Amino acid sequence: MNDLRNNRDESQEIITLEGSNIKKVKENAKNNPDEFWTACAKNLIWFKEWDQVLDWNYPFAKWFPGGRINASYNCLDKHLTTEIKNKAAFIWEGEDGKTITVTYYQLFTKVNQLANALKKLGIKKGDRVTIYLPMIPELPISMLACARIGAIHSVIFSGFSSQSIIDRVNDAGSKIIITADGGYRRGKTIPLKSIVDEAIKDTPTIEKVIIVKRTFDDVHIGGKDIWYEDIVTEESSYCLSEWNDSNDPLFILYTSGTTGKPKGVVHGSGGYLTHLFNSAKWVFDFTSTDVFFCTADIGWITGHSYVVYAPLMHGVTQILYEGAPDYPNPDRYWKIVEKHGVTILYTTPTALRSYMRYGDKIPNSYDLSSLRLLGTVGEPINPEVWKWYFNVIGKKSCPIVDTWWQTETGGIMIGMCTGIENISMKPGSGTFSLPGIELEIVDEEGLKVENGKKGYLIIKKPWPGMLLSLWNNEERYKKTYWEKVSGSFFAGDFAYLDKDNYTWILGRADDILKVAGHRLGTIELESAFVSHPSIAEAAITSKNDDLKGEAIVAFLVLRKGIESSPHLDAEVNEHIRNTIGPIASTEKIYFVNKLPKTRSGKIMRRLLKSIVNKEAIGDISTLEDEASIEEINYEFNEINKQL
Ligand code: PRX
Repeated sequence: MNDLRNNRDESQEIITLEGSNIKKVKENAKNNPDEFWTACAKNLIWFKEWDQVLDWNYPFAKWFPGGRINASYNCLDKHLTTEIKNKAAFIWEGEDGKTITVTYYQLFTKVNQLANALKKLGIKKGDRVTIYLPMIPELPISMLACARIGAIHSVIFSGFSSQSIIDRVNDAGSKIIITADGGYRRGKTIPLKSIVDEAIKDTPTIEKVIIVKRTFDDVHIGGKDIWYEDIVTEESSYCLSEWNDSNDPLFILYTSGTTGKPKGVVHGSGGYLTHLFNSAKWVFDFTSTDVFFCTADIGWITGHSYVVYAPLMHGVTQILYEGAPDYPNPDRYWKIVEKHGVTILYTTPTALRSYMRYGDKIPNSYDLSSLRLLGTVGEPINPEVWKWYFNVIGKKSCPIVDTWWQTETGGIMIGMCTGIENISMKPGSGTFSLPGIELEIVDEEGLKVENGKKGYLIIKKPWPGMLLSLWNNEERYKKTYWEKVSGSFFAGDFAYLDKDNYTWILGRADDILKVAGHRLGTIELESAFVSHPSIAEAAITSKNDDLKGEAIVAFLVLRKGIESSPHLDAEVNEHIRNTIGPIASTEKIYFVNKLPKTRSGKIMRRLLKSIVNKEAIGDISTLEDEASIEEINYEFNEINKQL
């Protein structure tokens, strides 16, 4: 194994496709995919080139098999021989306004020290490390340290509860958890270490808990606990990068599906990083002077891909913000833009809707002139919010990239490629798929629908950023994504193409909710409700919400002898916040005598959704499969009598 630190191949130029005709690029990607993806992969540093571009053993894709690569090397080492070495990688801003700048070289050193420390603790290639940290520099450092030694990171959003940690740690079989004493959220501290203490009573594979000092609150120190600073300080600042195979897992990220158990989405390095590097170049068109502010928490896929891996590979400076958008005042993002000269802001429609409520005066009181590009992700953006973003934040001079993608797709799939194309925007549409991504809108039978008709969004060909599989569950991988429309990836979203072929995403077509952009499974929520001793049965649906997009509504049947009361309502809500986390707060609880079900016992969730959204019953009769119109009418009347 060589130390390639000072051995960067300068002949590797970034393939920007600039100046080329986008139509030609997309045609080439379609007709000569191997040639196209080869050119894309060559933008990364490989220790050893691949034997083949794609080994497609349906439905398992191996991109660049035989290729050896390291994600941390591509994010850090490759910059050490360039002017990027002493540039800010992260400008971290704490909720209290404190700022710390971490240069690429400093980041490199910290990652290497932790990588060495993890090795000393016995972590080897292929081992799983759970990371449960707030938005502090140690979070990306921990991910990159794992990547460096070939360990697989599994980041859990720090808003999740002990039970969520137990499920995820046990599924992954992690040996170590990296956490903090606490985290800050809206001025309050969240006792992360105590939440972990509670969880590790039921996680037999955990050998050590590494604790970062953030809040300096007193924490319980048990036999497995060690302080982060104690294990890194004495470590050497260089650790050789592991030559990972292109398809060795880089990370597992758990996300909600349509059953009670979250899915462990697995991504590798070669394909995933190729997708990220190129999608970021095409969509954001990063330049050396960019200051990129992706507001996502690293606990979600957007943070993995576009806070950590893509921007670091490009050597741009990023903002890492610890806290809430509205703390201490509803101006925080604008304040950060002004303070750090942010050039690209990538955020969610939920955040924009909440800012828009406070009017134009607040953003107008900040200097936002450094901005050159705006982006959104995670949920459909309402055209009026899009216009507000464009007019008030971008001052009519910043394009908006509305990017559609998923945990499973790894990187952006639909979005305007400002780096290579010049097209008209349509508020609310993500425009077109990226080069090499072939999507189609189909009906129940998998047949292409005509433009203007709503259908299911599918991806017709494998792409480099696609998930390798689901952790420990190949069957579920096949069933969820590849069996609904044979030969194609089933994304689970409704969409349509307009007459100009622009894509419009209409939301989830399955039992997954998007609450403030966060993905939550209805069945996962229902299991959490019935784990309360007073609840016998639960049906979860969502109500359209001006702020959060969707808000959780629960229909609950109480156990015999239990009476409903406002006190119980509050207690149940608290139980859900403790079982899943505060993101699962319930908007409205209805206690009912029985749930509407089909003859085969399936809960009619879409009927409930129509009821809470006051939609006409006629619109839902075709949606509730297995149910007859009489059944639906009957249940509709029954439920309405009880509300
Ligand atoms: O329903 C789509 C919605 O978010 C889902 C994926 O959620 P998650 O895996 O948490 O990843 C979110 C961040 C990439 C999709 O199935 N979604 C994502 N982006 C958009 C969107 N809906 C509409 N417009 C988008 N731009």
